[in-house]
Amino acid sequence: MAATTEKTSSLTETTPPGERPVIVQVQDLIVRYGEETILDGVSFEICQGEIFAILGGSGCGKSTLLRQLIGLEKPAAGNVLIDGEDITAAEGREHEKILRKIGILFQSGALFGSMTLAENISLRLLEYSDLPQAIIDLIIRMKLSMVGLEDFENYLPSELSGGMKKRAALARAMAMDPRILFCDEPSSGLDPISSAGIDNLLIQLNRSLGVTIVVVTHDLASISAIAHRAIMLDKSVKTIIADGKPSDLKEHSDNPLVKSFFNRLAESGENLNVRSGVEKR
Ligand SMILES: Nc1ncnc2c1ncn2[C@@H]1O[C@H](COP(=O)(O)OP(=O)(O)O)[C@@H](O)[C@H]1O
Ligand SMILES: [Mg+2]
Repeated sequence: MAATTEKTSSLTETTPPGERPVIVQVQDLIVRYGEETILDGVSFEICQGEIFAILGGSGCGKSTLLRQLIGLEKPAAGNVLIDGEDITAAEGREHEKILRKIGILFQSGALFGSMTLAENISLRLLEYSDLPQAIIDLIIRMKLSMVGLEDFENYLPSELSGGMKKRAALARAMAMDPRILFCDEPSSGLDPISSAGIDNLLIQLNRSLGVTIVVVTHDLASISAIAHRAIMLDKSVKTIIADGKPSDLKEHSDNPLVKSFFNRLAESGENLNVRSGVEKR
């Protein structure tokens, strides 16, 4: 369909990340829960067509930041502009209008357990569009086939493996052809092969549809494989301690926290993968 052709922008293929228009702008964001400040003066920009990773140790505020980016929670101060519109100020219909441009893959996957995959995927289409059922059915089949689940329309989430559930949730997040896809730890709880499968899907979506992807993760293998750019948050300073290409952060950062975060790859991930094959048999 024409809509699909339009989305396959040459911008993604030819324009280096960093020279593209800004699609998300975060300005001096301060987030508090009660007396406790979680994020204190966070500012950064995400460019159109980037795969952008939000990194940091457990409890540093990654999910909190993501909820701010989609306007689920309001900050104590600061702004989040999505495609030029301030989501922190948007209420009701205005917020909904911005939400139509974005897809969200929550950490838990959060499919409705009593609904089939087809029903899960059709939810937002029924809510936000007046497309005839035949077109909705077509979109459902297209989205499921995009994530390799073409014959699973009538399955319930409980009948699927963890990796398949994540892929189904991804199909649902893509139902409305979002311009930006937000994912909170998409590979958490998955085995390395399923995780790599999700990474590949995200890369494919980014390359073929030009969708901007914002991914919260602490999976080092995934960061190196997919992210064009990353920021790293730290709990003690409550803000960004690094911003750049993952390979540059890994090799050139002087910050000891950044160094130790990236060096875990050598200590745990890579060696473990090699060892697990050798030690067991
Ligand atoms: N709704 C909430 N109310 C109070 N504190 C919260 C809430 N959500 C998160 N926090 C706290 O904010 C901090 C950051 O949490 P979170 O964003 O979930 O971290 P991360 O995703 O990086 O692991 C933690 O100390 C957490 O306990
Ligand atoms: Mg989290």
